[in-house]
Amino acid sequence: MKILVLNGPNLNMLGIREPELYGRETYADLVEKIERYARTRDVTVVCKQSNHEGVLVDGIQAAYGVMDGIVINPAAYTHTSIALLDAAKAVSLPVVEVHISAVEKREAYRQISYIREACAATISGHGTDGYLEAIDLLIRLHEAQVAQQGCTRDL
Ligand code: DQA
Repeated sequence: MKILVLNGPNLNMLGIREPELYGRETYADLVEKIERYARTRDVTVVCKQSNHEGVLVDGIQAAYGVMDGIVINPAAYTHTSIALLDAAKAVSLPVVEVHISAVEKREAYRQISYIREACAATISGHGTDGYLEAIDLLIRLHEAQVAQQGCTRDL
């Protein structure tokens, strides 16, 4: 199973930016943590980060036909980007939205998530462990889908 882990703007500043909200782990630490966990679950992960909306759209599109699921933290684009929502809908892959902080307890302008509509689940406020939970969720969805396909073939 192959999973794309996509991180949006300013998440390359993890460890430096607002550590009281986002913790002291750097982006490199996060990638290492995700890759280490993925190995234990026998999953291949590709981690990408960009500060540019179009690059994130390109990343989602490139996952079509190549990846089995996407974990995305769109960061501030969560609250603004219909383009990311459309891209997630276009590829029709299972997507899990992750936020390190508990966005639901923060400012009013963080209460909107455009991409949520295209996501199987949202994990928010679990720190960077949320990315690992999202991987587990995608694995479960993938296993259910494979079992379902097996049943359909048997008919
Ligand atoms: C974030 C929450 C967003 O509101 C914010 O713009 C981010 C990070 C999070 O992981 O908690 O950059 O997505």
